[in-house]
Amino acid sequence: VRPDAAWREEVLRLAERRNAVILAHNYQLPEIQDIAHHTGDSLALSRIAAESDADTIVFCGVHFMAETAKILSPDRTVLIPDERAGCSLADSITAEQLRAWKAEHPGAVVVSYVNTTAEVKAETDICCTSSNAVDVVRSIPADREVLFCPDQFLGAHVKRETGRENLHIWAGECHVHAGINGPELAEKAAANPDADLFIHPECGCATSALYLAGEGTVPQDKVKILSTGDMVKAARDTHARTVLVATEVGMLHQLRRAAPEIDFRAVNDRAACRYMKMITPAALLRALREGRDEVHVAPDVAERARGAVRRMIAIGQ
Ligand code: 13P
Ligand code: SF4
Repeated sequence: VRPDAAWREEVLRLAERRNAVILAHNYQLPEIQDIAHHTGDSLALSRIAAESDADTIVFCGVHFMAETAKILSPDRTVLIPDERAGCSLADSITAEQLRAWKAEHPGAVVVSYVNTTAEVKAETDICCTSSNAVDVVRSIPADREVLFCPDQFLGAHVKRETGRENLHIWAGECHVHAGINGPELAEKAAANPDADLFIHPECGCATSALYLAGEGTVPQDKVKILSTGDMVKAARDTHARTVLVATEVGMLHQLRRAAPEIDFRAVNDRAACRYMKMITPAALLRALREGRDEVHVAPDVAERARGAVRRMIAIGQ
C-alpha cells in the first residue's frame, strides 16, 4: 500500500463512514501523522480520546495508549491498527511486581507513568505522563511516601525537580530512549555550541545534559527537558537556529512542521521505536476496513484503573 492520494481518500472516507476519529502519536510514521485528525503526546491524546464523541477511536500509537483510551471511553470502539505494537517500558513492570512493591511500602502513594498496562494502572493511585509527572508528584502531600514506576530516568527527573527524598523509583526503562546516551549528546552539543537541546525525560542522557549545563559546557537555558508535545510548543518559541533532539526520531516530522526554519537534528538517528512503526499505511487501512484490531480491557480492571487515569488528565491542564 502506497500512502498516495487514493490511500488518503479511502482512509478518510472509511473514517467518516464509521464516525471514527484517527489519533496519532508524535512518533508515528510521517504519513500516519499527516492523515490523523489529531497528533500529540500521550497526555493530549488521552484528553482528546476522553472528550471525543466519535463512535470509534482509531489509535495510531502503541497498545497502552489505546488501552488508556478504552479505560476512559468504555462505550466507544477503540481500534489499534496492529495489536502487536507493544512497549518495552510498559513491559518492565507487571501488576504482580507492583503489588509486591506496595506491600513493602504500606501507605505509599503509587504514581505510574501512562506507559503501563491496564492491570498496572488498576493498582495505581495517580497516572502521569512526561508532561505532567512533576505536577502529579507535587500534588501529593510532602509527608507521604511515593512509589514511582516504571521509568527510572523520568523518575530521576521528577526527583530532581521536586527535591523529594521519599520518592522511590522502579528500575524500568525504554530501550529506545535509554540508548540515547550522554557521550553522544556531549559530542553533538560540543559540535553545535549555539543549539538548543530538547531532551525527553525518558532518555539515558537527560542527567548528562543537566550535568553539561551545570559545569557550563552548555548554557543552562539551552537545555530543555520536555515531553513530545512540549517540544512542539518550545520549537515555536525558541530563537535558536539549530535544535538537537533527544527522543524517538518520529518526533522530527512534527517539529519540522511546527518550525520549518529551524534545523532539527537527532542526537541519535537510530533511535526508532519498532512498535510505533508497526502502524503502517496498510495497517491503518485494514483497521478501518475490517474494524480491527479491537482493544478490550476487562471491565473490572478498567473500573479500577479509571480513577488513576482521570486524575492524570485533570492535573497540569
Ligand atoms: P510523550 O509523548 O507523552 O512525551 O511520551 C513519549 C513516549 O515514549 C511514548 O511512547
Ligand atoms: Fe515504549 Fe519506548 Fe516505544 Fe515509547 S519509544 S512506545 S516508551 S518502547
